[in-house]
Amino acid sequence: MITLTVNGAAQPVEADPETPLLYVLRNDLALNGAKFGCGLGQCGACTVLIDDRPAFSCLVPLAALVGRKVRTLEGLGTPEKPGAVPASFEAEQAAQCGYCIAGMIMRAQALLERTTTPTEAEVRAHMAPNLCRCGTHMRILRAVRRAAAAMGGGVRESAS
Ligand code: FES
Ligand code: FES
Repeated sequence: MITLTVNGAAQPVEADPETPLLYVLRNDLALNGAKFGCGLGQCGACTVLIDDRPAFSCLVPLAALVGRKVRTLEGLGTPEKPGAVPASFEAEQAAQCGYCIAGMIMRAQALLERTTTPTEAEVRAHMAPNLCRCGTHMRILRAVRRAAAAMGGGVRESAS
């Protein structure tokens, strides 16, 4: 048995220590925000925060998570009371099929917890590992700008 800390709660899990975190979140803990896209660390659909940094949960085995803090989309609020980042994605309608969006939100959350005043170039570089096959990138960037403002900051123009 391995005890994970997910969204602030201790979660005992009976699984092989090599099981990827994504499978445990979805299959054992009923946390379905993170999605299975490629399973190879190449798309970002499965992005969660581990110790406040974005991570591809399809690549992280349970054994690597002892004593570490996992956060998922479900930890950022409720549908009725969403946090600033998910609320901003909704306000900007930053989804088409929506498959990438939980991962996008978690990646954006990590950046905006570190700084609410990133430059446009920093936002684009930070978000780059997460792919969107529907091409909603411009709306996603607008959502990140809106969230930065909602959190008391603002995305700055990049120096040219
Ligand atoms: S499912 Fe994890 S990076 Fe694609
Ligand atoms: S909205 Fe469809 S993959 Fe991004």
